[in-house]
Amino acid sequence: MTIYLFSQLVLNWYHKNGRKNLPWQKNKTLYTVWISEIMLQQTTVKSVIPYFEKFISTFPSIKSIYHNKLDKILYLWSGLGYYNRARNIYKSAQIINIQYQGIFPNNFLDVIKLPGIGRSTAGAILSLSLNFFYPILDGNVKRILIRYYGIKGALRDKKIEKQLWYMSELITPIHNTGKFNQAIMDIGSLICTSVQPKCNICPLHKRCVAKIEQKWENYPLKNIKKIRPKKKYWFVLIKLNNTFWMEKNTKKEIWKNLFCFPNFDTEEMALNWLKEKNIYKNEYKKIIPFIHYFSHFILDINPILIQLSSHLELYEKKNIGLWYNLKKPQHIGLPKPVQKILEKFKKDIF
Ligand code: ADE
Ligand code: SF4
Repeated sequence: MTIYLFSQLVLNWYHKNGRKNLPWQKNKTLYTVWISEIMLQQTTVKSVIPYFEKFISTFPSIKSIYHNKLDKILYLWSGLGYYNRARNIYKSAQIINIQYQGIFPNNFLDVIKLPGIGRSTAGAILSLSLNFFYPILDGNVKRILIRYYGIKGALRDKKIEKQLWYMSELITPIHNTGKFNQAIMDIGSLICTSVQPKCNICPLHKRCVAKIEQKWENYPLKNIKKIRPKKKYWFVLIKLNNTFWMEKNTKKEIWKNLFCFPNFDTEEMALNWLKEKNIYKNEYKKIIPFIHYFSHFILDINPILIQLSSHLELYEKKNIGLWYNLKKPQHIGLPKPVQKILEKFKKDIF
C-alpha cells in the first residue's frame, strides 16, 4: 500500500506544482531530451536554460552536430563545466550517424551504450520523451529515498546502491513514468534539498522517516567531504592591442581541447617559457589571483599580464593557438576563469 501511495503522492504533486514549461519540455524529441539530460547532470536547471536554448538553435539535429567540429560544441559549452559531457555528445553524434542513420535510438540497450549515458540517464531520456517504463536514480532521487526510508550507511557502498535501485524500481509507476520521474527530480531539487529541506511543502512528509525523526542530517547523500587539494596555476596573458594569445589545451586533463592562456604549474615555468619565447624583456604585471572551484580540487589562478607593443610572428603556427580578438571573438571553447578575465578586459578594468 505504501508503494502505491508514494507514486500517487508524487504524481498528484506533479499535476499541481510540477514544472511543465521548461525549454526542453516543449516540442520534446529524443534528441532534445538527450541534450537536456546531459546538461542537467551536475548542473542546475537555471544554469542550463540559456545553454540549452543556444545549443538547440545552433544544432537543430544530430546530423548538424555530426557535420560540425568539436571546437564548435565546446564553444557553446564554454562556462557550463564538465566538458567531457560535450565531448561525449560529439562522440555519440558520430555513433548515431554511423549506426542509427542519424536518429537517436529508442531502445534502452542502444541508448545505454552511448558515451556519457548510464542507467539513470538512459531511463530519464526514454521515460521523459516516450513515457517508457524505466526507473531513474540520480542524486536527487537517492537523497529522497535515503531520507524517506531512513537508510543508514555509507553511500559509496555498492550494496546500498543496489538497494536504492531496487527501491526506485518499486516506487516507479508503470503508467505516467515520465511525469513521475520528472516530478521526483523536481521534488529532489526544489524541496528535498541537501540542506534545509522544505518538508512542510513536501508531498511525502507524512511517512518520511527523516521528517518523522526530525533528523534529516542523519541521512546524508554524500560521504564525509574530503578536503579538496589546492593547486596553483599561472596564466600568461599576452596582450597585443585588442587581442590575447590563446593556446589549445591538448595535454592537460582539465579543459582538454579548450583554448586557454598559456598556463603553467609554477611561476618559474611561466618565466622560463617567456624567456624561451624572447618576451622576457617586456615588463609584466601581476594581476590579483583568484580561485576557481572544481569538484575534486581548487585552483588558485595567478595571471601575469604582458603588454606587447608590436606583433610577434613567433606565435602564428596553425593549430597551436590564435590571437583571440576581444572585439570580434572567435567561436572557440573557453573555460570559465578565462572568460572571467576576458570580461574584465572588455570592461577595461585592468
Ligand atoms: N536533473 C536531471 N534531469 C533533470 C530534469 N529533467 N529535471 C530536473 N532536474 C534534473
Ligand atoms: Fe525530503 Fe522532507 Fe520530503 Fe522527507 S519530508 S522527502 S526529508 S523534503
